[in-house]
Amino acid sequence: MSRKINVAIKRQYDQSSGSQWEKFSVDYEPGMNMTTVLQRIAAQPVTSEGKDSTPVAYDACCLEEVCGACSMLINGKVRQACSALVDNLLEDKPDQITLEPMSKFPVVRDLVVDRSFMYNALKKVRAWVPVDGYFDRGAGPKMSPHEQEDMYPLTTCMTCGCCVEACPQINERSNFIGPQAISQGVLFNEHPVGKFEEDERMEALAGAGGIADCGNAQNCVKVCPKNIPLTRSIAKAGKMATKHAFKRFFGS
Ligand code: SF4
Ligand code: SF4
Ligand code: FES
Repeated sequence: MSRKINVAIKRQYDQSSGSQWEKFSVDYEPGMNMTTVLQRIAAQPVTSEGKDSTPVAYDACCLEEVCGACSMLINGKVRQACSALVDNLLEDKPDQITLEPMSKFPVVRDLVVDRSFMYNALKKVRAWVPVDGYFDRGAGPKMSPHEQEDMYPLTTCMTCGCCVEACPQINERSNFIGPQAISQGVLFNEHPVGKFEEDERMEALAGAGGIADCGNAQNCVKVCPKNIPLTRSIAKAGKMATKHAFKRFFGS
């Protein structure tokens, strides 16, 4: 008899309905990840009790931990399904693997959540380099290798939501923009062209819901799959906010 993997999935039909757990048993295959498991369930959506069900909705795109679309709670920890290897999960919890949608975002269906919160926070901090045309403006300002090395890790953010999920300051009572938006604000403030919009960016970073709302619990940095130095970005944003406050006070 083939080896089975038991998976319990927290399911929800849409944003307004309640959730319930459903259990599935999937044939084990060497090298499987949790996206493969969800694909096998979609191909044959029958519960462990033998009842016909529906394919579990989930997001996925790159399948190599680059796009951030497949973030969910796997055995209670926020991470990407495509890089969660079944063999490793079974070592920790051989009886059953649990899958839940992230809790800080509205559920669209099953494991699919609406991550608009993060994109709106990126808009608030103007996380882009402004361009005023597509004509050739010649070479841009130079950056030293040291500056490039410093900034590169921040560019690997995939808006996956793990840091938002782990941050205790993000909840229904707060309007904190979160660690990812802070880090992206810092990245563009330090960019030689992006820094021309530093003042506008600082309005969001230093204003209500900005850096002052960070409780410094440092949960964010522990869960970031890209190992982005979020606490370093938070410290830099704090210094930028102080500088911005002085600038405003002295009107320069
Ligand atoms: S340091 Fe703590 S409070 Fe601040 S963004 Fe990270 S998890 Fe949230
Ligand atoms: S900072 Fe890290 S955890 Fe947060 S959204 Fe970006 S990649 Fe994900
Ligand atoms: S599918 Fe892109 S990170 Fe998992």
